[in-house]
Amino acid sequence: MILFGATGDLAHRMLFPSLYNLHKDGLLADSFTILGSGRTVMDDAAFRASIDEQLQKYLPPEQYAADVAESFLARIDYVAIDTAEDTSFASLKEKLGARTQKPLGVYLSTPPALFGPIIEGLNRAGLACGECRVALEKPIGQDLASSKQVNDIVGAAFSEERIFRVDHYLGKETVQNLLALRFANILFEPLWNANAIEHVEITVAETVGLEGRVSYYDGVGALKDMVQNHLLQLVALVAMEPPASYAAAAVRDEKVKVLRCLRPVTPESAKALTVKGQYASGAIGGAAVKGYDEELGADSATETFVAIKAFIDNWRWAGVPFYLRTGKRMRERKSEILIQFKRVPHDLFASRGAGLEPNTLIIRLQPEETIRMLVMAKRPGLDRDGVELQEVELDVALDAAYGNQRRRIAYERLLLDFVEGDQTLFVRRDEVEAAWTWIDSIHNAWTKTGQKPQSYTAGSWGPSASIALTERDGASWHD
Ligand code: BG6
Repeated sequence: MILFGATGDLAHRMLFPSLYNLHKDGLLADSFTILGSGRTVMDDAAFRASIDEQLQKYLPPEQYAADVAESFLARIDYVAIDTAEDTSFASLKEKLGARTQKPLGVYLSTPPALFGPIIEGLNRAGLACGECRVALEKPIGQDLASSKQVNDIVGAAFSEERIFRVDHYLGKETVQNLLALRFANILFEPLWNANAIEHVEITVAETVGLEGRVSYYDGVGALKDMVQNHLLQLVALVAMEPPASYAAAAVRDEKVKVLRCLRPVTPESAKALTVKGQYASGAIGGAAVKGYDEELGADSATETFVAIKAFIDNWRWAGVPFYLRTGKRMRERKSEILIQFKRVPHDLFASRGAGLEPNTLIIRLQPEETIRMLVMAKRPGLDRDGVELQEVELDVALDAAYGNQRRRIAYERLLLDFVEGDQTLFVRRDEVEAAWTWIDSIHNAWTKTGQKPQSYTAGSWGPSASIALTERDGASWHD
């Protein structure tokens, strides 16, 4: 595997620790090697030492072992690259030596502006062979038009079945569990539609702010950074029809159909359907934090929060709102999917106590992995004044059920699938384009109407308009 961007943050935090874990568990073939590449000039020994340092920094102490690290680092070498120079690709080829005889996996963990030069350089050096695969980190473009350009450049050298577009949310165990919950149980599917579901909520709340990613984040914002990829992938998994199998084509065919059914947002509907926010100074977990502008060191109109009332215009979901929200510097870190079922058609208990509440299914993706179902039960008693009902939880704490099993980093799964050539958990070109088509409709509506981000206090659940977005419909966010 050639890893471009090997000295970058993602490589340090996620890719090398994940590869280390795969190595530790004996999941990488003996012949598997990693050629790291970046702009910094250094030799193999210096690069290995730097990776060793990063492993110790980012792996939990109980997972790091010096002897395992030593054998892992022996798989790694390094070549400095200036992507504008042809000679760089010649030295890369030379460094690969006999390894060019074997299929290569090219992993691009670089800014997207470098995808083109790298792929063209590899092509000229004869390294984009028919057996090779390429993995791409997001963002794939900034809008539909630029994503097509990126996909065209990559597609000119690699056929679609060799392109692995990464959305790390698909590598998360709980995200895959959504498919198991929906399609390995008879219970949910008959009710999983507009007849029984009132609305769906998807929240991806973060407590972090810019995290030093100033040059990337400003001008991109939450809509393109989070909704275009992670939230829409969750929407697709929640809303798709049952695929015939777990094969890549079957799953991705169903996901793309959902993305194509998203009702475009127009300048007329944008105000009622979307909320943009930007965090102002506040406090998280008792610690004071700066506002976005102050962290950035400039005034900015970039949104750090977005809430959207989305509709999927097809038979299954007609009229069911999907409330989506994501933001930085929010009250707590939490990713959650909530399915709000409808009320029973008739209350035969003439409810006392808490009253007859509709059922709710809450799938918590992180930080804890839980599936909770809120159901009505009878409060114990002699019922002299009628049956008293109460909402109780059927709680599946996956943490407890699989307490003895280490939770893998999402990238472990994705890297292994990449190495083995399984595309199920990667995003196909038509999915990316369908997602951008919808995101562009929102972005264009915002530009046309001049919709500005509303301020929210860091450490809150976002601007008050986000609360109004659900409450207007008699719903409320699950905070
Ligand atoms: C990334 C975004 O794709 O996902 C970041 O660019 C965000 O802005 C991150 O912080 C969130 O990922 P996770 O796995 O921490 O929920």
